[in-house]
Amino acid sequence: MPHAICPGSFDPVTYGHVDILERAARTFDTVWAVIFHNPEKNGGLFSIEERLELLRDATKHIPNIRVDASTGLLSSYAAERGIGVIVKGLRAFSDFEYEFKMALMNKHLDEKLETLFMMTATEYSYVSSSMLKEVCSFGGSVAGLVPPRVEQRLVEQLRRKRE
Ligand code: PNS
Repeated sequence: MPHAICPGSFDPVTYGHVDILERAARTFDTVWAVIFHNPEKNGGLFSIEERLELLRDATKHIPNIRVDASTGLLSSYAAERGIGVIVKGLRAFSDFEYEFKMALMNKHLDEKLETLFMMTATEYSYVSSSMLKEVCSFGGSVAGLVPPRVEQRLVEQLRRKRE
């Protein structure tokens, strides 16, 4: 199968993301891991450059992956590169409504663009970047849920933010 895109905020990348990216890379010839961000909306703990660096590092063992960032529409990004499939991880029932709406909106924008969902691995089914940031900000350990480098950067970045 040809190209697929795994879009996300990746703020920061977690082992849940890496699991989906590895599985997508076994299913598709090329997988694009793309950080989408809206410059109109402030926020995010890490800059796009930092997110890119952490995502590249966390996926460097996957040979058929391309890592990128964009400020545009996902459907336009995919169309411009001949990418026909969006792959997303689905964690629990709570993800469904949000993901369902996004899949339908992307279908509205480009009827040829398909969204496929992969169930997350059970060990990461409760992991989200926002929850990890909260746990880390209160001094809790996120070891085993993110790559060691991400854990270290989370601690540093949250400390810097407090200062
Ligand atoms: O990791 P997230 O925050 O669930 O990812 C959300 C993301 C990046 C997939 C979504 O915000 C997105 O697709 N952004 C690109 C802009 C766009 O195309 N918006 C309309 C699609 S519904």
